[in-house]
Amino acid sequence: MSAFLDIAAGAALLREGKLCAFPTETVYGLGADATDADAVLSIYETKGRPRFNPLIVHVADLAMAKTLAEFPPLAERLAEFWPGPLTLVLPAKPGNGLADVATAGLDSVAIRVPNHPLALELIRAAGRPLAAPSANPSGRLSPTTAEQVVTGFEGRVPVVDGGPCRSGVESTIIRVDGGRLIQLRAGALARSDVEATIGQAVELAPKDSAIAAPGMMLSHYAPSAGVRLNTVPEAGEAYLAFGDAAGFTGPTRNLSPSGDLHEAARNLFSMLHELDASGAAMIAVAPVPMEGLGEAINDRLERAAAPR
Ligand code: TXA
Ligand code: MG
Repeated sequence: MSAFLDIAAGAALLREGKLCAFPTETVYGLGADATDADAVLSIYETKGRPRFNPLIVHVADLAMAKTLAEFPPLAERLAEFWPGPLTLVLPAKPGNGLADVATAGLDSVAIRVPNHPLALELIRAAGRPLAAPSANPSGRLSPTTAEQVVTGFEGRVPVVDGGPCRSGVESTIIRVDGGRLIQLRAGALARSDVEATIGQAVELAPKDSAIAAPGMMLSHYAPSAGVRLNTVPEAGEAYLAFGDAAGFTGPTRNLSPSGDLHEAARNLFSMLHELDASGAAMIAVAPVPMEGLGEAINDRLERAAAPR
C-alpha cells in the first residue's frame, strides 16, 4: 500500500481509530479521532512523545467547535479568523465526547479550523474532530511536505498529500480568559493582526508560566486528593492499581489488570477523576514500569503527586 492516501481512504482509517497525516496551512498534522482515546494514544506512541501534552483539536467550522467548547462573545469574534492559523483555548463543554488524553485531563480545550481544503474535507469525511500535533517524530522538525512525513516516520504513517504548506510555522495559540486575551504560543497569525481586528490588547503569557505550557507544568493535573506513588494503600486511602490488585477492599481502579501500558494510559485521567470523586483524602498509586507509554504515564503521575 502506498503511503499516500486520498480523502476517502484517509477518513476511513480515521474512523477505524487509525492515524492519518494531513496538510494544513501551517504544517502537516498527525491526525487521530479526538474522541477515541486509543487513537489519540497512538499519536504519542508514533511520535515517541515522552509526555502527554494537550493536543489541538481540529474542526471543520464554528458550529462543530461549539459542540466542544464554550464560546464567550470575545471568542466568537476571534473565530472570524477561521479558517486560519489561530488556535483558541476555551472552556471545554462538559460531555463533549473528547478523549481525556486529547486534552490531558484539563477542563479547557484548544481548537482550530485549519485553512486548507483537504484538511476540511478530511474532517468532514471522517465526521469527527481530529487531534493533530505536527506530523514528526518527537524532537524533529515539523514537516511542511507530505514527503517529509513519509521520510520522518519511515513510511509507517499514511498521509494525504496537499503539496507544501503555505505557512510552515504552527498556529498562534490564544487563551480567552473572561475578557482577557493571552497568547500562549506565537505562531502563523501575528499578534498585532489580532489586536488590530479585535481592538484589544493580546497579552503575552509569562515565560515558563503554568498557563503557557500546561503540559510542562509541575503540578499540572492536580486531583483534590493527595497522591502517593509507587506504593500500596493504607487504611482509608483509595488505590490506583496496575496489574494484580487482589485483596484490597477500599475504592480501587485498576489501570490495567493485565499490565498493558496502552490500556493504562487510556484509563489514567478518567480513573484519577473517579478516585478523586470517591472522597478519599489520599490516592495510593501502584508502580508503573518506565517503558514505552510508561514514561508518559509516570510523568503525568509525578505531576499529579507534585507539591502544590
Ligand atoms: O499549526 C498547528 O497548530 C499544528 C497543525 C497541525 O494544526 N498543530 C500543532 O499542534 O501545533 P500541537 O498539538 O503540537 O500543539 C499543542 C499546543 C501545545 O503547546 C499545548 O500546550 C497547547 O497546544 N495546548 C493544547 N491544549 C491546551 C490547553 N487546554 N491549554 C493551553 N494550551 C494548550
Ligand atoms: Mg510540534
